[in-house]
Amino acid sequence: MEEEYTLVFLKPSAIKRGLIGAILSRFERKGLEVVSIKSIYMTREMAEEFYSVHKGKPFFEELISTVGENKIVAFILKGRSAISVVRSLVGATDPVKAAPGTIRGDFGLDITDNLIHASDSPESFRREVSILFPEFKLTN
Ligand code: CMP
Repeated sequence: MEEEYTLVFLKPSAIKRGLIGAILSRFERKGLEVVSIKSIYMTREMAEEFYSVHKGKPFFEELISTVGENKIVAFILKGRSAISVVRSLVGATDPVKAAPGTIRGDFGLDITDNLIHASDSPESFRREVSILFPEFKLTN
């Protein structure tokens, strides 16, 4: 597998709890390159677009009010098999089921407010990066 990019964003509670450094250091320790990082005010509209695939699901409204109208911190990471490597460092969606040693397993309990989002495929990365990093070009 060649080098690939992935997108991660830290949900508002991770920022409020002062976990930016602790979480970022896990990706750096693993050897992933931090290609870009920024703090963004995620509007409700951005959150609805970002999570449009979940529209209509029972948790959609709670998800949008958890991440929308709040500050998030987003990263673009690069490395060998970055998408699957980052998802294993992040852990299962439900922090109750996430293995100890993963980010959600170590820091979270709430399923909606599960601290962090990571792209699940190259297609998701391309869609998500166009929303949070519209200036990003794949030649970076
Ligand atoms: P994330 O990785 O950002 O992608 C979709 C988000 O929806 C997920 O993390 C959770 O925040 C939320 N989510 C997914 N499944 C559920 C669920 N069953 N109940 C509540 N929230 C969920």
